[in-house]
Amino acid sequence: MNALVIGYGSIGKRHIQNLLSISDYEIIICTKQKKPKSINKKRCTFVKTLQEGLLHNPTIAFVTNVSSEHTQTSMLLTNAGCHVFIEKPLSNSLKNTGKLLDIVKREKLVTLMGCNLRFHSCIKKIKLLLEQKTIGKIISVKSECGTYLPEWHPEENYSKSYAARDDLGGGVVLTCIHELDYLYWFFGEIKEVFSITGKFSDLKIKSSDLSAIILKFKNNIIGEVHLDYFQRPEFRSCKIIGTKGTIYWDSVNNEVKIFDIKKKKWIIPLKVKNYDKNKQYLDELLHFLKCVKKKEKSINDLTQGIETLKIALSTIKSSKEKKLIKINS
Ligand SMILES: NC(=O)c1ccc[n+]([C@@H]2O[C@H](COP(=O)([O-])OP(=O)(O)OC[C@H]3O[C@@H](n4cnc5c(N)ncnc54)[C@H](OP(=O)(O)O)[C@@H]3O)[C@@H](O)[C@H]2O)c1
Repeated sequence: MNALVIGYGSIGKRHIQNLLSISDYEIIICTKQKKPKSINKKRCTFVKTLQEGLLHNPTIAFVTNVSSEHTQTSMLLTNAGCHVFIEKPLSNSLKNTGKLLDIVKREKLVTLMGCNLRFHSCIKKIKLLLEQKTIGKIISVKSECGTYLPEWHPEENYSKSYAARDDLGGGVVLTCIHELDYLYWFFGEIKEVFSITGKFSDLKIKSSDLSAIILKFKNNIIGEVHLDYFQRPEFRSCKIIGTKGTIYWDSVNNEVKIFDIKKKKWIIPLKVKNYDKNKQYLDELLHFLKCVKKKEKSINDLTQGIETLKIALSTIKSSKEKKLIKINS
């Protein structure tokens, strides 16, 4: 069986490497690079165009090009009957996302958005604790993601990267959409959003590098999200406050803690030792392959990708218009 990968950049290479290690797929790689270096000459073939790639009759495809091209690329692949793994975010606009959904439904295809944090042990544990109502009724949540953009791909000029360019679907809200995605997964639909989003640091980029976001979920939970491109060391956290306690996780300790208000102390139901960043990507890939094999709906299908994109676009709109934006689902 063949897998087609569109975009041979950092994440494309990671998925190819993982696919080689856990499956028998032959991999067709579509890249515009003149002399691409092969990861595995026996099982990888390079093509120059997507159409040339489709001649190899791939059953699955990976959309790993720049964010602004994900929807269009996915339309071509799904029209040809490929099950698609689409890297986050789905796009930088809602244009054609409805049409893409129509094709996916018509062809009965499996889709998975590449939001790997849903496969992070600690985020998965938090989801479980919430489902078990461990800390009672949830009142509020605060999430943070801070990274330093120049350190993402140190060998490249960060100013030219897709993440730094709005026209390629970059900017901090769309690029760091993981927090909005997992909050949507935890707490469901969002009713209103307000944000201040823009370029505030002295990084040499034109896109936004900071977003301070306030969310009101349909179930009245209040969320605060901080995303930035200029924080060192990198840091992620999530703190959820409920009527019976608090849940906390951060990327430094990589443990999930619960504050028990009766015992007045923290307990640690999960501590991840020797954290392996690639594990979440491997688990994500295994999930996609399992869903394709069984023709099952994935944990984060295109419908959810569209919802998360709506939240991100409303966040950006709120800052531009300096007002609270209502989100229609
Ligand atoms: N889930 C995650 O953890 C994660 C992590 C990283 C990235 N991503 C997502 O994956 C996508 C790619 O990110 P990346 O880090 O792999 O980026 P990257 O290393 O810059 O690669 C992007 C790919 O897009 C194509 N490309 C580059 N510049 C382009 C331009 N100006 N116009 C059109 N196409 C261009 C290139 O394809 P060719 O050179 O092959 O022609 C390149 O390989 C983004 O949407 C990003 O949000 C997700």
